[in-house]
Amino acid sequence: MAENRRPENMERITTPELARAFIDEQIKALQEQVGSKKVLLALSGGVDSSVVAALLIRAVGEQLICVHVNHGLLRKGEPEQVIEVFRNQMKANLIYVDASDRFLDKLAGVTDPEQKRHIIGEEFIDVFAEEARKLSDVEFLAQGTIWPDILESEAGIKAHHNAGGLPADIADRFELVEPVKILFKDEVRMVGKELGLPDGMVYRQPFPGPGLGVRCPGAITRDRLEAVRESDAILREEFVKNGLEGKVWQYFTVVPDFKSTGVKDGKRTFAWPCIIRAINTTDVMEVTVEHLPAELIDHLVKRITTEVPGINRVLIDYTPKPPATVEYE
Ligand code: XMP
Repeated sequence: MAENRRPENMERITTPELARAFIDEQIKALQEQVGSKKVLLALSGGVDSSVVAALLIRAVGEQLICVHVNHGLLRKGEPEQVIEVFRNQMKANLIYVDASDRFLDKLAGVTDPEQKRHIIGEEFIDVFAEEARKLSDVEFLAQGTIWPDILESEAGIKAHHNAGGLPADIADRFELVEPVKILFKDEVRMVGKELGLPDGMVYRQPFPGPGLGVRCPGAITRDRLEAVRESDAILREEFVKNGLEGKVWQYFTVVPDFKSTGVKDGKRTFAWPCIIRAINTTDVMEVTVEHLPAELIDHLVKRITTEVPGINRVLIDYTPKPPATVEYE
């Protein structure tokens, strides 16, 4: 059985050997805890839930039921990658729920950032709870809680919800399974690498729960959201090509809700700008800006203005935190 707390003298997992030893130990502990019962997991495709899924697939195989909810605010290719890695390669029992329309309908016309977050959070719980209710014989709920979540929760910085804020009729049914809860983020990545997860998943940059929704400031419309998604995909592709992936802490695009005049093929355009933000940090409280090479910026401007419908201008955000936050909402 895994420790409930990180032992004070626990050696930091810094080598593949230590990661393998952790994996072996966890597989035994998970098999002991779960026995022949079923386990449910909300699999976002983020590092923590992906590592939990990969561990449980090794430990209990098809007894694990993963639910991947697409809220319509994921990055380009994300749901496809989750399906490819977990269902096709790892042979996981994966339920894919495309709830995009449901989320976007609820968000239509909502401009307040906190209300947007609230709707996305509530709707996510509703969709997941609906799936959970369809499965009557599941006794365990797996979560990607990590050690900093527990420390932050104890320090009163961030609420760490047991059972992810699920309604009581669902939450009370489950015993929690939290196999990476004594690990720091870098250790989770090390374990994920040893479990054979792709680098793009293991070393991926932080991505907020409300997803692209906070990068489409104001009321989300489908066309502007697509402009965010397409420009983000171009930015990520160019970061990979230029060896910047994994070196810059977080990078993304934002498409604000205003238009400016431009010209294309001799005709006037009236379209959105696309803002590029690339930042570095150690603790997220203070953030510095990554100064991208001029040639890369020129290339990004060209690609984004020609390939992304609705964009006629590219701006670079050079503001550190403070005074700005990382996200726009
Ligand atoms: P801010 O904008 O607060 O962002 O400077 C700091 C870090 O937190 C991420 N972030 C979020 N993550 N839900 C999340 O899971 C959220 O609502 C949220 N808001 C910001 C942001 O991407 C950055 O890494």
